[in-house]
Amino acid sequence: MSLPPGFIDELRSRLSIGQVVGRKVMWDNRKSNPGKGDLWSPCPFHQEKTASFHVDDQKGFYYCFGCHAKGDAFRFVQETENVGFMEAVQILAGEAGMPMPERDPRAQEKADHRTVLSDVMEQAVQWYRMQLRSAGAAQARAYLEGRGFDQAALDRWEIGFAPDMRQGVFAALTGKGVEAAQVIEAGLAAKPDDGGAPYDRFRGRIIFPIRNHRGRAIALGGRAMDPNARAKYLNSPETPLFDKGRSLYNHKPAREAAGKGSQLIVAEGYMDTIALSEAGFASTVAPLGTAITEDQLALMWRISSEPVIALDGDKAGLRAAMRLIDLALPLLEAGKSLRFALMPQGMDPDDLIRAQGRDAMQAVIDGALPLVQLLWRRETEGKVFDSPERKAALDKVLRDAIKVIPDPSLRGHYGQEIKDLRWALFNPRKGGAGAGGGKFKRDWRKGGPTPYAQATTVTTGAKSSVFAAGGEGAEDHLREAVILATLVVNPDQVTAFEREIETMDCRDPDHAALRDALLRHGAGEDVRALIEADLGAVAVADLLGQSHVQIAPPIRRAGNAEFVGKCLEQELAKLSARRGQAREIREAVEDIAYAEDERLTHRLSDGREAINRIERGGNDASVEFKVAPNGNKLSQADVDYSTALDRIVVEKNKP
Ligand code: UTP
Ligand code: MN
Repeated sequence: MSLPPGFIDELRSRLSIGQVVGRKVMWDNRKSNPGKGDLWSPCPFHQEKTASFHVDDQKGFYYCFGCHAKGDAFRFVQETENVGFMEAVQILAGEAGMPMPERDPRAQEKADHRTVLSDVMEQAVQWYRMQLRSAGAAQARAYLEGRGFDQAALDRWEIGFAPDMRQGVFAALTGKGVEAAQVIEAGLAAKPDDGGAPYDRFRGRIIFPIRNHRGRAIALGGRAMDPNARAKYLNSPETPLFDKGRSLYNHKPAREAAGKGSQLIVAEGYMDTIALSEAGFASTVAPLGTAITEDQLALMWRISSEPVIALDGDKAGLRAAMRLIDLALPLLEAGKSLRFALMPQGMDPDDLIRAQGRDAMQAVIDGALPLVQLLWRRETEGKVFDSPERKAALDKVLRDAIKVIPDPSLRGHYGQEIKDLRWALFNPRKGGAGAGGGKFKRDWRKGGPTPYAQATTVTTGAKSSVFAAGGEGAEDHLREAVILATLVVNPDQVTAFEREIETMDCRDPDHAALRDALLRHGAGEDVRALIEADLGAVAVADLLGQSHVQIAPPIRRAGNAEFVGKCLEQELAKLSARRGQAREIREAVEDIAYAEDERLTHRLSDGREAINRIERGGNDASVEFKVAPNGNKLSQADVDYSTALDRIVVEKNKP
């Protein structure tokens, strides 16, 4: 059953999750603040005495810091009453005084109507197949034989033939009792504007039936026999059954074959799909007479994380690939990518398989290029980069292209890959991509009085510190230690910062182990004991015993959840900002090494300035304390914690 649009939203806005949950729990009056919609109770989903179950009445969500149960009012009713979503809606609608809509009769009608049309289409498919066996189809059969179809293949692909008649399929279907209107609505026949008799859409064509993901007949493709026909291929029009941009030729068989381990290949049309499948590449689909759409990409990614696009080795095919790159870039994520198999000049997969066999095709598929390399080719092939301006223009175009990749980690890898390709292009004799070293790099490593040579000391200078664990620098290491210690002492904070903790890029393996242990055990009971059991008591004692950890305000004021939460928020943000800046600088340095582009030095000094700002902290003038080797005194107890830490860091790093 489907609900009218907006029904759920309306119901949600009328509900108070506090009221819904309140019938099942006893609120903890000391911890709760009903005025703010901030409600706490012992969790109804697991056994506990403390109140770690939180309801945010304003946002309409609940979350348990103990067992991580979470959801909205509907979820809560589903879980506590053990009912499905629709029943939960029914229960809550009853409480909110909203009448449930009747089963939507129009939606049902529509579904029924499509079933009828699909049956009409199925009858047409069978009629066209029959025509292929008739005497009038001798030429069509010869043509198909010439293209490599034997009888088994004709049957497998349900190939048919539309005789060159004004009323072939129309007469056949209406003669069997199908309404004329349905033959027309299925797209099999058209009614002329002048009110004349309906006529067949497909005439004198080989017929390729198109089925949807469930195998139901939804449309037809027809290839002209006449080489002078106006359109080589003619497809069914858009109908209630057929949404071109959301359908794929050979969808169901391809999905099934992919399930058995076949690589998904995307071909350009019917004949290529068939040729590939017959040659053993059983998981092949094709769009239907249009460029690949976003919806079709989504369908492909449901079948395979990395479809191989096999486009014709001609200009049109290449242009299609280039358009596809732009369509795909903003949709990419880990596990959703594309590769491109480049056919030999002037050949499509069907031609290649016929001329050189399936092994040649396999080789082309094995050599399929990652999307990033095709993007690179698009922007570089046939161009000369003999001036800083041209190099900078290339940088910009590539940067703009990958900017649209939403996943930051993936975007980073794309950037890196492009840098490697760039390196190889601009240093052809220096030994290829990612080799490091090379002319420009070596020059600045010698340490001339160049701005970037100074800048590198910003990132590498800290490494000499005894606190650095082979990573970015002492500051970060100290900061990490305080964050981890704060979490060990205040494990109830882990949940709130789970995402930030997960992305904490700990270079020190001890820190990384602590981070992982926190994520594993965080928010449970006896977290510290569990971590000690995992990593050893010494590891925890080492962490908590460090002097800068001991004096850190969120350690000294552990238990003050609000204060501790604020400190964590600030410190995690600073850590990631610093790491981001360090990355920027590294990249800028590399950019310069590669491209020798003077404008980049500006970016570099910007990055350096930003680090300095962070290092200086917000209001260091108001902070006064000193760090001595044998213990630390903080003169101002309630000093903004992060400023304090910044200051400690600065002092410690003084030679
Ligand atoms: P191609 O022109 O590359 O044809 O069109 P093909 O698949 O190699 O076919 P053969 O080998 O000449 O028989 C590729 C696809 O583009 C669509 C069809 O889906 C076709 O399979 N197309 C092409 C059309 O929809 N209309 C046309 O007029 C041409
Ligand atoms: Mn072809």
